[in-house]
Amino acid sequence: MISNFLLLSYIFVTIIEAHQELVSVHVIFRHGDRAPSNPYPMDPYGIEYWPNGWSQLTELGAYQTNELGTYLRLQYGEKYQLIEEKYNPKKVIIRATSKKRAIDSAKNLIHGLYKPEENVTHDDSIDIKVEGSYKQDLLLKPNSVVCDRYERTAKAENMVLFQAYNLRFASFFKYLSFYTGYDVSMDNIEHVFDAVFRETVHGLPQPAWLNTTFKLDKDHPEIPVYDTILELKRVQRLSEFNSEWKSKLRTGFLLGDIVQRLRRISHGANEANLVIYSSHDATLTALLYNMGVSNELLVPYAAAIIFELYHDTDSLNYFVKVLYRNETTHSPYELQVIPKSTIFSLKDFTIAMAPKMYIKKEEYFDDCAIVVKENII
Ligand SMILES: *[C@@H]1O[C@H](CO)[C@@H](O)[C@H](O)[C@H]1NC(C)=O
Ligand SMILES: *[C@@H]1O[C@H](CO)[C@@H](O)[C@H](O)[C@H]1NC(C)=O
Ligand SMILES: *[C@@H]1O[C@H](CO)[C@@H](O)[C@H](O)[C@H]1NC(C)=O
Repeated sequence: MISNFLLLSYIFVTIIEAHQELVSVHVIFRHGDRAPSNPYPMDPYGIEYWPNGWSQLTELGAYQTNELGTYLRLQYGEKYQLIEEKYNPKKVIIRATSKKRAIDSAKNLIHGLYKPEENVTHDDSIDIKVEGSYKQDLLLKPNSVVCDRYERTAKAENMVLFQAYNLRFASFFKYLSFYTGYDVSMDNIEHVFDAVFRETVHGLPQPAWLNTTFKLDKDHPEIPVYDTILELKRVQRLSEFNSEWKSKLRTGFLLGDIVQRLRRISHGANEANLVIYSSHDATLTALLYNMGVSNELLVPYAAAIIFELYHDTDSLNYFVKVLYRNETTHSPYELQVIPKSTIFSLKDFTIAMAPKMYIKKEEYFDDCAIVVKENII
């Protein structure tokens, strides 16, 4: 009985595959490798180590986003023939936040997408759409948009967690404070990470206090200092988005934008074949949580979430696949946005995403204004 069922579902999936035509792709990616925002007071590495400036895309970041562009060209240009060799503004839309590293990443991606043979590091000939300041960019940098309800919810949900970490790692934070020159706790561990992670990625030798182990107390084994900073940063970062409301308030509007576009195409609208959004780790992290498919890891540089829309030429139905390209050495992971399935009808996808998205900005602003009683602290 069970094996019959498995066999039938296998045949069903195979038949769908054979009649599917890829009609549109929507990509949202994180910018490439970047410089730290700030050194810590006793940081041995100043601005002279970051030729493009604090917070900006590095040469490595340019390479990573170029590689993503190359992947998209091979996949959607050569394999699926979804986009033409030359840029066509009616068929390809590229959007970025107003942050320079996101715009530079988009330029490098475009280079990989269209001009692999030329040795320029980025391309200015293609229009990259930017929606005003990132502080109002609800679509691509929602965690910089002020939302009262988000602030209260995050604070209420994370207070106990942060207190527990501050207690458990008290001696470790003291140690970090001594060597970095400022008061480190769970609330600002990201600043230590900001410098030491980025310097390490760039091969800059780290001080001995970082490249060692630490003993929290006599009851615990020694912990590696660097890895523990990464782990605390992961816990802190995920705590910003790891619940229904925290992720909906951040990426409900983006999810609504994507789902609505796919639906317009299914109703015959003449839309772009490829839409590319250049964004930030917070946006991708929140979007993964909002869709219920986070892997609870930090989002790597130049990682991409890819929405593929297929038209079944037999049934005339539309199907969706959501992919996560977080590694260049592994094909993108198929996300089970609908439990146990990696391809689902646009209808089922829309129904499943409906409670998690905003169609109009007003819906988001209304939700932000709601004061949730139990969350007031
Ligand atoms: C690109 O750079 C490589 C290595 O520097 C060089 O060999 C090649 O000729 C260059 N190609 C073009 C089109 O300039
Ligand atoms: C850490 O220390 C080891 C041995 O002392 C050394 O070989 C290595 O390069 C150091 N790593 C960093 C990132 O400084
Ligand atoms: C990429 O995602 C997969 C699936 O969630 C996970 O197993 C893998 O560790 C991730 N890789 C990185 C580099 O984050």
